[in-house]
Amino acid sequence: MEQFLKKIEDRAACVAVIGLGYVGLPLAVEFAKAGFRVIGIDVDAVRVGRLKRGESYIKDIPSVDLQKIIADGRFVATTALSFLAEADACCICVPTPLGKTKDPDVSFILQAARAVKSSLRRGQLIVLESTTYPGTTRELVLPMLEEDGLKVGVDFGLAFSPERIDPGNSTYGLKNTPRVVGGITPACTQMAVALYSQIVARVMPVSSVEAAEMTKLLENTFRIVNIGLVNEIAIMCDRLGINVWEVVEAASTKPYGFIPFYPGPGLGGHCIPVDPHYLSWKLRTLNYRARFIELAGEINAEMPEYVVGKIADALNRAKKSVNGSSVLILGVAYKRDIDDVRESPALDIIKLLCNKGAEVTWHDPYVRELKGMESLTRAAAVTSELLSQADCVVITTDHSTYDWEAIVKDANLIVDSRNATRQVGLGRHKIVPL
Ligand SMILES: NC(=O)c1ccc[n+]([C@@H]2O[C@H](COP(=O)([O-])OP(=O)(O)OC[C@H]3O[C@@H](n4cnc5c(N)ncnc54)[C@H](O)[C@@H]3O)[C@@H](O)[C@H]2O)c1
Repeated sequence: MEQFLKKIEDRAACVAVIGLGYVGLPLAVEFAKAGFRVIGIDVDAVRVGRLKRGESYIKDIPSVDLQKIIADGRFVATTALSFLAEADACCICVPTPLGKTKDPDVSFILQAARAVKSSLRRGQLIVLESTTYPGTTRELVLPMLEEDGLKVGVDFGLAFSPERIDPGNSTYGLKNTPRVVGGITPACTQMAVALYSQIVARVMPVSSVEAAEMTKLLENTFRIVNIGLVNEIAIMCDRLGINVWEVVEAASTKPYGFIPFYPGPGLGGHCIPVDPHYLSWKLRTLNYRARFIELAGEINAEMPEYVVGKIADALNRAKKSVNGSSVLILGVAYKRDIDDVRESPALDIIKLLCNKGAEVTWHDPYVRELKGMESLTRAAAVTSELLSQADCVVITTDHSTYDWEAIVKDANLIVDSRNATRQVGLGRHKIVPL
């Protein structure tokens, strides 16, 4: 271990990052910027090819940053797992999706762990960063790594450290968001603390891998539950004829005991709609029902349908049916100013509208294509002609590049699921809030 700590301190260690997506690529770049030699490994040859050419595909990582670390000889991208043997530390950042039955799909973790195992050697530190249920690191990864006789805490280190990156957040990034780490043994924790302290301002060790795994799930469950709560409050306010946005804004003036969450068309992204189900699955195996998660999941999952109901009612008031109406969807990414469409509620809204016979056109400044929806028209720009030709414009993502004033001026009817038109649309009857 002493040798590992010395190599980290001297920045002589080689760091491998497995999985170069929204989580892995920023991590790899940060280690390289800090002076480490970094090997980025991904099974996706197209992604690796782009990285080799110095082309970033993650919006928060400028290509110039990538080109600099490549030119300085501090970053290589490869599909070859054999490079893992050179690494002193290895961070696993592979996807953790849900299967068809909403059960955890840990196959990517298992694949990555198998690759790590085949080149595991004395003095290496392995850190799992993928969000997963408590017990994954100890129950699935550890036995695999110990198969050939090396002992954790003695021969190699194993820890869990949840990634907390928030794509598109310009205030909090990898460096100034504290890191939680939990090792299998205290020595493993010490190794992981030493590693992350090189790139993160504050590292918070916890007493076990399970505590670290659970920390991430508490954070994301906190979000899913509060978003579910405020979405239900939005539905209640609608029934009561009260503007929910005004209510949240007013409640937010309370200086303690209240944290504002905002309603919307539903949950999106790889984390919030997925991670809490990892926790509820684990609890089901222990004969316990995670009721908050299930209820919040249900309410949030119904939001796209609720928005489509709003669209149908709005068209109905204009003596039009959904069937045959032209609907323009503004924003398909799951949140503002990012290009990620995974689990985006806009996709559900589009599918529901198409099923009802609407002619859907979509626009998003950051998204070029929607897989499986190629037959739909993608508008290249939001022109006044495009807006005025639509029977209904639906604001699904409030990208800051949109000109709300122009949109409100030219659209015939707007269903605004994000309260994006609040400044410019006051008193306009053609705007239907959530
Ligand atoms: N996206 C976020 O905002 C975010 C935030 C915090 C935590 N997380 C968690 O981090 C993990 C990764 O998420 P992401 O958003 O970066 O996913 P991603 O899909 O953007 O990237 C994952 C990458 O891993 C690669 N990969 C898959 N299997 C591999 C293997 N066996 N070997 C090498 N590469 C492999 C894929 O090709 C892909 O490029 C997930 O567990 C997620 O829940 C994500």
